[in-house]
Amino acid sequence: MLARREITPITDAVPQHEKATKVISVTSGKGGVGKSNFALNFALSLSESGQKVVLIDFDIGMANLEILLGMTPRHHLIDLVKEKKGIWEILEKGPNGLELISGGSGFERILDLNDDDANYLFAELGKLQGYADIILFDTGAGLSKESQRIHLAADEIILVTTPEPTAITDAYSVIKILHHQDASLNVRLVVNRVANSKEGIAIAGRVRTVTKRFLNKEIEILGLMPNDSLVFQSVLEQTPFYLNYPKSQAAKWMKDMVNIYLHGDGGYRQASTGIKGFIQKMSQFVVKK
Ligand SMILES: Nc1ncnc2c1ncn2[C@@H]1O[C@H](COP(=O)(O)OP(=O)(O)O)[C@@H](O)[C@H]1O
Ligand SMILES: [Mg+2]
Repeated sequence: MLARREITPITDAVPQHEKATKVISVTSGKGGVGKSNFALNFALSLSESGQKVVLIDFDIGMANLEILLGMTPRHHLIDLVKEKKGIWEILEKGPNGLELISGGSGFERILDLNDDDANYLFAELGKLQGYADIILFDTGAGLSKESQRIHLAADEIILVTTPEPTAITDAYSVIKILHHQDASLNVRLVVNRVANSKEGIAIAGRVRTVTKRFLNKEIEILGLMPNDSLVFQSVLEQTPFYLNYPKSQAAKWMKDMVNIYLHGDGGYRQASTGIKGFIQKMSQFVVKK
């Protein structure tokens, strides 16, 4: 049994409402493509680069991120609603200055919440406005009603795929469904587990071409991640590869990706509606059948 990392609840947080908070959600078509590992290590790399990041595990019922971090959080997202906890009580400190809200296992489907509970949840999330530079939602595979709400309200959607044809096809389906709800969504693609950059560039190019041709939608390429056995190893060791194996190919590519994202053209500085816009969109949005 691995030693569990000590965690500290953030009880002394005095939020400073001065940051232009950007809300990003991570999705995929097929499951198991590496979303949670991507989200966690992307968040750690952003934190290392000086961004204040709150990572929220919205993969309801699956305690992915806390397991990948080897943490046992005291509270989970559902406690906010069930026990009427405040947002600052459920926010936990992770490595690199990262802050985390765990999904927890057994988190009932969020849309089963009554209106009052849902309003409370999103009002509390709204308090993160100005506190963090980036709020990153990890979500489950595919599109549940609740994850659609998150994606449609986010400033940016990161779509993760692998080179597998099934993963690519399912990723395309996700873009298509989301695009039909809102043609103005800002989608960025990550091709994970590529054998080399040539393969990754070819796949990313293919997805871009298909979405342009059939949906007339432009998607950005956020980056590529190598297939790296140290990612798998880190999962076993319950420590993120970005921290555990900083010299791994995966960690190096992640660092480059974040650097380009933060400092390159067309990256981070694109318009953000901030979490206030996110909350407004969340409450207005009705999922089309
Ligand atoms: N870049 C990678 N290289 C090697 N293995 C990876 C990589 N990304 C993910 N994996 C493997 O895939 C598994 C599933 O990843 P995970 O992040 O949990 O996927 P998801 O959140 O999409 O379901 C991990 O446990 C790991 O073994
Ligand atoms: Mg996951």
